[in-house]
Amino acid sequence: MQYAKNILETIGKTPLVKLNRLTADLPCLVLAKYETFNPGNSVKDRMALQMIEDAEADGRLKPGGTIIEGTSGNTGMGLALAAIVKGYKSIFVMSDKQSKEKMDILKAVGAEVVVCPTNVAPDDPRSYYSVSKRLGDETPNSWYVNQYDNPSNTKAHYKSTGPEIWEQTDGKVTHFIVGVGTGGTISGVGGFLKKKNPNVKVWGIDTYGSVFKKYHETGVFDEKEIYPYVTEGIGEDILPANVNFDLIDGFTKVTDKDAAVYTQRLAKEEGMFLGNSAGAAVKGVLQLREHFNSEDVVVVLFHDHGSRYVGKMFNDDWMREMGYLD
Ligand SMILES: Cc1ncc(COP(=O)(O)O)c(C=O)c1O
Repeated sequence: MQYAKNILETIGKTPLVKLNRLTADLPCLVLAKYETFNPGNSVKDRMALQMIEDAEADGRLKPGGTIIEGTSGNTGMGLALAAIVKGYKSIFVMSDKQSKEKMDILKAVGAEVVVCPTNVAPDDPRSYYSVSKRLGDETPNSWYVNQYDNPSNTKAHYKSTGPEIWEQTDGKVTHFIVGVGTGGTISGVGGFLKKKNPNVKVWGIDTYGSVFKKYHETGVFDEKEIYPYVTEGIGEDILPANVNFDLIDGFTKVTDKDAAVYTQRLAKEEGMFLGNSAGAAVKGVLQLREHFNSEDVVVVLFHDHGSRYVGKMFNDDWMREMGYLD
């Protein structure tokens, strides 16, 4: 008999899938690392489990403990699945711009959800960074995960996602392109691929309203770059320790409208029902076309599933209200 001993054993080993229509005008092969095949429907299952296992190993997380994290939903899902299997409680702090589906999904897997305002500074006591930290300090036998600065986040991708991409492309990958939030995915995968072949180019997808691109290009943390935006999962108003700027070759910014439109196009033209950051990522690949030639093998990573966006990017009333449908 072949079976997994529990749901956590099904994490990873996701497929690599060729993009056909949307990238037809590019000279290169474009392959999607399709992370929705993970049991929590996102890439974040990988790092959630790694963070928990490392915290168990060094005693930060103790039996019967409570896992506390600020999450846009996907990390929470991964943590919640592991918490159920391993017998922990979980409390997740989210900002109010995240889709309602993401909050309901976390509640469905037994987590307590605390919602905070989006449009406050990171050091404001109401911000989701501050609230998660405070809950971590106040709750007995709790562990505050802090995916932004937790090195196990990058490590998970260095150990699993990166090697999978290397093996699946037979070492032929030339470019890795991915949306950047905490930075764990780009730094872990990018670090592994560059160790195997220093010529691999690593590009991050950023949003308008985020500090990453300017910081990477100038070394200046420019507060004027920070303003509210719609795209979910990527871009930041902080510099997480998990973003290793040294191994990133460049960032390209994608507008909220393009990210939303390309999320719909992935579903309609490729049969890929994916989240909003996948739309941003594929548009970013198209923006970078001048960097590719016919020999190149470009891998773009798609983080999460379309079901989390049915009230937004897959709802034409919402798209019209936002001015995203012509
Ligand atoms: C949907 C989605 N896309 C992209 C990202 C960014 O990935 P990372 O945090 O590894 O940079 C996240 C992270 O929260 C996410 O949830």
